[in-house]
Amino acid sequence: MFLLMQEYIFMKRCFSLARLGAGRTSPNPMVGAVLAYEGRIIGEGFHRAYGEAHAEVNAVNSVAPENQGLLPYSTLYVSLEPCNIYGKTPPCTSLILEKKIPRVIVSCLDHTPGVNGAGIERLRAAGVDVSVGLLEAEGQALSRPRNTFVSAHRPYVILKFAQSANGMFAPPDGRQLWLSNAFSKRLVHKWRSEIDAILVGGNTARIDNPQLTNRHWFGKMPVRIVLSRSGKLPPGLALFGPEAPTLLVSELPPGRALKNSAGWLPLPFNDGLIGSLLGELARRNITTLFVEGGIRTLELFLESGYWDEARVFVTGTHLYPGRPAPQIPVEPKSGFRLGSDQLLVFENRR
Ligand SMILES: NC(=O)c1ccc[n+]([C@@H]2O[C@H](COP(=O)([O-])OP(=O)(O)OC[C@H]3O[C@@H](n4cnc5c(N)ncnc54)[C@H](OP(=O)(O)O)[C@@H]3O)[C@@H](O)[C@H]2O)c1
Repeated sequence: MFLLMQEYIFMKRCFSLARLGAGRTSPNPMVGAVLAYEGRIIGEGFHRAYGEAHAEVNAVNSVAPENQGLLPYSTLYVSLEPCNIYGKTPPCTSLILEKKIPRVIVSCLDHTPGVNGAGIERLRAAGVDVSVGLLEAEGQALSRPRNTFVSAHRPYVILKFAQSANGMFAPPDGRQLWLSNAFSKRLVHKWRSEIDAILVGGNTARIDNPQLTNRHWFGKMPVRIVLSRSGKLPPGLALFGPEAPTLLVSELPPGRALKNSAGWLPLPFNDGLIGSLLGELARRNITTLFVEGGIRTLELFLESGYWDEARVFVTGTHLYPGRPAPQIPVEPKSGFRLGSDQLLVFENRR
């Protein structure tokens, strides 16, 4: 019982470490690792950024010189299956074998082709005692964006919007209205620092003129994407500013030359639009996509079935009259209060 509790604590620590890499590891997953000897952590690490050392390597390197001799008697906890392939770095399974680590506890499998159980098999074949599935649901939630990207060949899609207390999304008259509070706004910017791209529809770009940048949190700026059938967007829109690249997705060519680092992706606006778009984004190594509205755009994603999560702020504001918010076809998985707003999180479990 005590041992099991300890294993939970060490795996939870792996998850916390993994999250420290949020926003910097894409297209790689976030991974955390802990090395324990007789119930004591002697090393820990996480994958800090794409192209840099994996979590297991950082954990081994963090072990103090006087403790290196304990590695052949230690247990490695890792939030995701150790890799078994040469990518930007050598396979972590080789390091585990080289350091003679006898026991490995993994939360969940890595669906990357060439890994997907092969990392576990290699370790077991070499005599390492490997267990898989500790706190598996939490491990899978952490690795879901990466596993969606490598197995479905599309970005992990998160829908995000705010609605009034009476279920309205926007005024009917094309006027801009901010519904959520400052806490929610700050949180949205933090989320933006953790994802690869943000998408809005052309009407939202024209009406709200959003910058779609991360201004209220640390870290990176995602790529901006605007979906407009006609491609008719004023070149002076804030999302064509120099802060981040912008991709215009339209059926017709943009009326005028695009500014700054904007690019054009021509796609037919037919029933296959969202599937084709996601395939194109995956080819550009976009692993996570935030869809921030408006209604038509969110509904396109909901109707296509290509969405994984929805984060909905139900605000304290009442809006009459208004355009009704999109309906998420599942019950919320969790809810949190942020001052006057309530955040509801939905998951699309296909
Ligand atoms: N509450 C919130 O969280 C929130 C968030 C964002 C936006 N908003 C509000 O939402 C409103 C805008 O929503 P919206 O529904 O009007 O527009 P939208 O989703 O922002 O944009 C719709 C886009 O769909 C394109 N389109 C036209 N025909 C299509 C087709 N057959 N298939 C696919 N796409 C097609 C249009 O292209 P064209 O460019 O050619 O017209 C248009 O740009 C604004 O009032 C904004 O303030 C609220």
